[in-house]
Amino acid sequence: TWTTDAFVEETIREIRAKVGDKRVLLALSGGVDSSTLAFLLHRAIGDQLTCMFIDQGFMRKGEPERLLKLFREQFHIPVEYVNARDRFLATIAGVTDPEEKRKRIGYEFIRVFEEESKRLGPFDYLAQGTLYPDVIESADTNVDPQTGERVAVKIKSHHNVGGLPKDLRFKLVEPLRKLFKDEVRKVGRSIGLPEEIVRRHPFPGPGLAIRILGEVTAERLEILRDADLIVRQEINRNDVYHDLWQAFAVLLPIRSVGVMGDQRTYAYPIVLRLVTSEDGMTADWARVPYDLLETISNRIVNEVAGVNRVVYDITSKPPGTIEWE
Ligand code: XMP
Repeated sequence: TWTTDAFVEETIREIRAKVGDKRVLLALSGGVDSSTLAFLLHRAIGDQLTCMFIDQGFMRKGEPERLLKLFREQFHIPVEYVNARDRFLATIAGVTDPEEKRKRIGYEFIRVFEEESKRLGPFDYLAQGTLYPDVIESADTNVDPQTGERVAVKIKSHHNVGGLPKDLRFKLVEPLRKLFKDEVRKVGRSIGLPEEIVRRHPFPGPGLAIRILGEVTAERLEILRDADLIVRQEINRNDVYHDLWQAFAVLLPIRSVGVMGDQRTYAYPIVLRLVTSEDGMTADWARVPYDLLETISNRIVNEVAGVNRVVYDITSKPPGTIEWE
């Protein structure tokens, strides 16, 4: 029978046998897959592993700092931090079309990945958090026709675009390739990943950039970050985090009239998106207590300058999607 301990031991042996004394690059995102991967590889090959974290500037408030602190100080796994915030913001400046936004972010990611892997490299292997469902999906695309070995054609960065340039087609190390998501969680837990990572809600690769409808600006990012933090704080305080698949804020690029004190306001609305789901393919809007909605609404309008209205999305998927872009 399958046990996490046996899996961990066998996987560490496998990694060592495959990699030998070569160097491995891993792009860390902070999710459970890449974090579990980093743990296993670090245990297996120590400083032959380089973890790289590319900060696009679209993460939630405090998350890049939290991720670095956890890895460096608590797990004692070194991380190369790449601050690419300005270039990602520049690459989508003025872009309002959702697909175009995603594409540009994906291409920029590949460009930064390429530059940084050349700067830190050379590397022989790329570690990817490929899971069993991804292996099936990419059955032939990732196999080198000459050697039959799996090679990196794309990088699984949660961006769906961006083939790797030819000279960057690393060989792959994919220790999670036989696992389903719930098994990854079990393994992660058994090797000591904290619950905050093991049970983290899904977060899209383009991050907050697709939760600001229309043009993304530094000002809008700051507003959304502050509103989103309040959503997370209240969800946690009320102990509903684990009942939900995702819980987040969306900023709409329109303004409506409100009143504060005796002042008329004209500011952005924030949409609350709280959903339950089994796998993200279908979802239902969450029936959370009205009091929780009220607290979130009051706090956002009172504490976040630039927002004067909060609305609750009561659309299920289908016909809605979970994200708004
Ligand atoms: P939708 O919005 O299509 O999302 O109902 C379904 C699930 O996928 C997540 N999502 C993404 N994840 N890269 C990702 O890694 C993306 O570009 C992306 N877009 C959506 C979404 O958060 C939800 O969990």
